[in-house]
Amino acid sequence: MSLLQAELIVLNGKHVTAILECVPDSAPLWRYWGPRLPDGVGPRAALSDVRPLPSFSLDYDQPLSVFPGLGVGWFGQSALLAHRAGEDWTFQATSCDIARVDAHTVCITLSDEVAHIEVVVSLSLDADTDVMTLSSQLTNKGEDVLDVQWLAAGALPLPQDASTVRSYSGRHNNEFMAVDDTLTRSIWRRENRRGLTSHDCFPGAVVTCADGTVYGAQFAWSGNHTQSIEWTDDGRYHWQMGEWLAPGEVRLAAGKSIQTPEMLATCATDPNGVAQNFHAAIRQRINWPSGTMKPRPVHLNTWEGFYFKHDLAELKALADSAAAIGIERFVLDDGWFEGRNDDTTSLGDWWPDPEKYPSGLKPLADHVTGLGMEFGLWVEPEMVNPDSELFRAHPDWALHINGRPQITARNQLVLDMTREDVLEYLFIKISYLLDSLPISYLKWDHNRDLTVAGARPLYRQQVHSAYALMAKLRTAFPHIEIEACAGGGGRIDAGIIRHTHRFWTSDCIDAVSRMTMQRAFLQFMPPEVMGSHVGTAPAHSTGRAQSMDFRAGVALAGHFGVELDVRQVQGQDCDTLKHWIAKYKAYRGQMHAGKLWMGDAGDNIVWQAHGNADDLLLFVYRMQPMGQRHMPTLRLPMLDASKTYQVEGAEYDGAWLKAIGLSLLHAKAETCQMLRIAAL
Ligand code: DGJ
Repeated sequence: MSLLQAELIVLNGKHVTAILECVPDSAPLWRYWGPRLPDGVGPRAALSDVRPLPSFSLDYDQPLSVFPGLGVGWFGQSALLAHRAGEDWTFQATSCDIARVDAHTVCITLSDEVAHIEVVVSLSLDADTDVMTLSSQLTNKGEDVLDVQWLAAGALPLPQDASTVRSYSGRHNNEFMAVDDTLTRSIWRRENRRGLTSHDCFPGAVVTCADGTVYGAQFAWSGNHTQSIEWTDDGRYHWQMGEWLAPGEVRLAAGKSIQTPEMLATCATDPNGVAQNFHAAIRQRINWPSGTMKPRPVHLNTWEGFYFKHDLAELKALADSAAAIGIERFVLDDGWFEGRNDDTTSLGDWWPDPEKYPSGLKPLADHVTGLGMEFGLWVEPEMVNPDSELFRAHPDWALHINGRPQITARNQLVLDMTREDVLEYLFIKISYLLDSLPISYLKWDHNRDLTVAGARPLYRQQVHSAYALMAKLRTAFPHIEIEACAGGGGRIDAGIIRHTHRFWTSDCIDAVSRMTMQRAFLQFMPPEVMGSHVGTAPAHSTGRAQSMDFRAGVALAGHFGVELDVRQVQGQDCDTLKHWIAKYKAYRGQMHAGKLWMGDAGDNIVWQAHGNADDLLLFVYRMQPMGQRHMPTLRLPMLDASKTYQVEGAEYDGAWLKAIGLSLLHAKAETCQMLRIAAL
């Protein structure tokens, strides 16, 4: 028997390989995506030659392709669900054009002359990060409107031994709660229909295989989404991510196109490898004001210390105390605009409250900058309170469907961001603030889920409009950094990071609760964009109290800040806080550019190491009292077995630390140790 030589597209990263098989006039088939194969290794034979037809099946075999279509021999989930008034509801390419953009990027144009649809699948495997970026663009080539119900950004294969999937659930004050599911022949699906990224359905997941290989994917989008994994007839699994579309949300007129957001996907030998790849990819996506990240300044955020009680003299005194302990950026949170004395009023009225700030914000902003700190301001542009000047003037600006109730959340409604006049209003109001005040930072909040998103569903356009407003403001004020916040961590994703520079991880700053959230956050996002603050004890969100050392030690793992009235921090606590601020400044360079490893040493000891394998900053956290008589040892798998390391003055063999581990001192519950591990 002579086998047909397969025509392959091979994309290689450093540690990852993707192989597609070209099939005449059809979407290329997925032959492989996983750990790096040696150069030149591939399937050789075409799949059709080595895959006999099963009994009682179609006399035509349709394996998993880069864009599987419904109705023409593929029985798994389709990458496209669309129709033209009940017609043209199947998709199968009748021609395929493959453009190799460069060694790592391929653009596959699939034209379906029957359904009059064209799809361009873009696929790029970045050689530096090992992250594959996928997206699809669909064009309606027909004459009538095409109703699109689903368009996958990417369709990826997972190996036969993929066994568990970890996704994330949560709520306000409790983000990033891991949900572990076993992969079976039932479809696994998570859907978010809240209109923004959401607290309860982070758009990303991590799959672990029986051989230990770990795959991760995240969807770069701040709106509704679906992620699903389905078993396929050859025993592999098939992973898709895309926008969840409301009925009628995408109705493409003749010649019109829709472009999906990107899906980022990678694989590695363990979850830390996946995290490191994602960190590198996210770092590439961030647009820093001057092109490169400057050291992440220590924040003071006024929210939990002051809430809506703004008093100019007190805030100035707060700024004095903040500057004295080394704080570098002062962020004035909610409560500064006219009438905003609680959360029932004034969203939309973006001018200073004349009672709290008789001469506007300038005296405070100048005072802050005069102390050498940056001045940041909280805004929530997409929102309006029914009790506001804005709503009284323009009730029709809030998203609504005539005849349906407008349901408030935190007493607020959502502006229709697709309206030019709304965008113009917001741009003018925010520009005025940025123009007239020395503001270099915006904390951009979004404190509710969307319900009715317009008479016609405008969910996805809301997101695009919010991105566009951020982009327009950043073009006009290129020095501005933006923090993405949505009632804490409701808008954390790889889409909005193109416009922003920090995430507010959660409104819960209880250090014990934060530990779980932060470690899950760090699976997808690098530490320098993880807003993490030292709050009060007891914590406002949980009522639990922890020592200053522990609170600061937990906050240090991200972009460090303080969220309390620092004037009240006295004596030993003040010295401790100053000490941690100084430590943060000493180590932020290493932590915000290096790699990250996280692990669990057992007996409620968790650890994370930042830097590179030759110079690590190790944080060891004891979360609960000792359950064993002796402390466990902490193995450091990233070290080089042939090297010697110095840890706090003592020398260790790398091989020993890797295999047996570092001996730890006794530690009480809710304590943090920070150690430096350096190769000699
Ligand atoms: C929710 C945010 O997460 C908080 O940090 C704070 O900014 C409030 N909104 C203000 O209303």
